[in-house]
Amino acid sequence: MMKFWRRAAPASAPGPAVVRDWHDIVISRQVPVDGQAEAARATNPLAAIFYEHSDRLAHKWQHYLEIYDQHLARYRGTPVRFLELGVFQGGSLQVWRRYFGDRARIHGLDINPACASIDDLDLRVHVGDQTDKALLDRVVSEMGGLDVVIDDASHSSPHQIATFEHLYPRLAENGIYIVEDVHASYWPDLGGGLRRPGTFMEYAKGLLDRLHADYIVEDDPLAQDTAFAAMTQGISFHDGIVVFEKRRKTRATHCTVGRRTIF
Ligand SMILES: C[S@@+](CC[C@H](N)C(=O)[O-])C[C@H]1O[C@@H](n2cnc3c(N)ncnc32)[C@H](O)[C@@H]1O
Repeated sequence: MMKFWRRAAPASAPGPAVVRDWHDIVISRQVPVDGQAEAARATNPLAAIFYEHSDRLAHKWQHYLEIYDQHLARYRGTPVRFLELGVFQGGSLQVWRRYFGDRARIHGLDINPACASIDDLDLRVHVGDQTDKALLDRVVSEMGGLDVVIDDASHSSPHQIATFEHLYPRLAENGIYIVEDVHASYWPDLGGGLRRPGTFMEYAKGLLDRLHADYIVEDDPLAQDTAFAAMTQGISFHDGIVVFEKRRKTRATHCTVGRRTIF
């Protein structure tokens, strides 16, 4: 299990830091924040709620807050069925509760049995592995369906891929599936590397081709596999985050309007 939050920051030394492994990269980007000051200059409601938060510990890369708000604002105040994979100390679930409001169904799943002690009445925490399909099915069934998934659990590419392949087809039409910390795809000590086959990032790039399956003219099996394209409105790549917008589509068509021409 990854415990970067428990590692002590290395003593600061003059000169450029020597980056040895992914822990060093993460630790080197950690900054202290003045929550009140950050909340006062927040440019979106999620950032304001996050920086005001003072109960259970939550951990986020700061630039994610704007990206999340951009994709999830439409669910605020609705009975959204929200699942976060990777509960950690439970603070993130509390932040999501405040962001989405009282009507939301906020569920979390974590492999750490300690997470079972999170007994907030407005949260539901499941304990188990993010790749346990039977468990995921039970969670989805209890939630009555899924509108939003955030995968912030193991950050292992095979896990991210397995969970996506199981949950994305089960996501509601118009749902949002977010995979967080995909920079892990580039870190060799997590099985990653630049353009390394098997990483989530390479898998997601492959899904970009599948999104365009209907246009592929080569004699390739991908050209016949239009199922993903038919259920996906778009894929957004951000720094550290990939967002899948699910929406059933008919075959793309085009047309003209207007009459006046110049040639
Ligand atoms: C980065 S922390 C989650 C942080 C939390 N979402 C937040 O924003 O504060 C990752 C969590 O994933 C959990 N985890 C690791 N491997 C897992 C797996 N295979 N299945 C489910 N949870 C896992 C860890 O126990 C840890 O609590």
